[in-house]
Amino acid sequence: MKKDEYIGILTSGGDASGMNAAIRAVTRTAIFNGFKVKGIYRGYEGLIAGESRELTTEDVSSIIQRGGTILKTARSEAFTTPEGRREAYDTMRKEKIGALVVIGGDGSLTGARIFAEEYPVTCIGLPGTIDNDLYGTDFTIGYDTALNTIVECVDKIRDTATSHDRIFFVEVMGRDAGFLAQNSAIASGAEAAIIPEDRTDADQLETFIGRGFRKTKNSSIVIVTESPGNKNGGAMHYADRVKREYPGYDVRVSILGHLQRGGAPSANDRILASRLGEAAIQALMEDQHNIMVGIHNNEIVYVPFDQAIKNDKPIDKNLIRVLNELSI
Ligand code: F6P
Repeated sequence: MKKDEYIGILTSGGDASGMNAAIRAVTRTAIFNGFKVKGIYRGYEGLIAGESRELTTEDVSSIIQRGGTILKTARSEAFTTPEGRREAYDTMRKEKIGALVVIGGDGSLTGARIFAEEYPVTCIGLPGTIDNDLYGTDFTIGYDTALNTIVECVDKIRDTATSHDRIFFVEVMGRDAGFLAQNSAIASGAEAAIIPEDRTDADQLETFIGRGFRKTKNSSIVIVTESPGNKNGGAMHYADRVKREYPGYDVRVSILGHLQRGGAPSANDRILASRLGEAAIQALMEDQHNIMVGIHNNEIVYVPFDQAIKNDKPIDKNLIRVLNELSI
């Protein structure tokens, strides 16, 4: 990485709280170490179109506490095509961008991996997604904030569920991953979680009915990972089944939706994003190529892109046991 070139930074895919903290950390660490930074707008879309501008330390002032991303984000169709990536490479050369820091999830890092295979570009990825589904990092930026938001919502739902003696199916995001559902269920004292990773042949609803809906409990909350990520079906599917098969129960559904993605980042997300953003520049200075910077056992780790996007980050089976045992 030459010092007369810029380090480009972009956010891509679904926004996640803490992305701004990461932008700030990357920008300030780069400037601290004598590099220049360009912020690229709207993810890979802006990389293709050349929508970028130099970032100063002041440009990233007072953003650590803000949700969303000041650089905006997009899911770029064009970047999935060879023509789009060619244009992106041409723009990088024209704009003197020598390396790219990509903050995003699975799809965004997949794009970075392909791009870095096709062209002589250095890409460093930062895990930014509420789904926590990137392999090799214990946590992704945005996950903790979303988890806390869900727990706050479920606490509120519990009040009304208890008052009416109702069963609630609460649908949360996560795409193909059940981290948000499983851990929010534990943290909110929910009776069960239905997650994609625990798809057994046994009928989960039967198990739940047997375990959770007992007379001494006057409300029940089941957290369900969204469908179609959850091949078991989403919250509506379960609510319909209970209404059909157990007509005595008063059932409601609450789909939390995009409110899970917004809001001020938690302290943990701010610290994670700051550490990972700083480490991204350290990685560039160490001449690392095409890796995601993650965190494992509280240590910074470098994870090759193809590992990070393997898509089979396991959920700790102990968490499933903990929820089962504590929800009796
Ligand atoms: O990947 C983050 C995420 O919020 C998923 O949990 C969800 O399935 C998806 O993005 C929603 O995407 P969009 O905002 O494009 O509808």
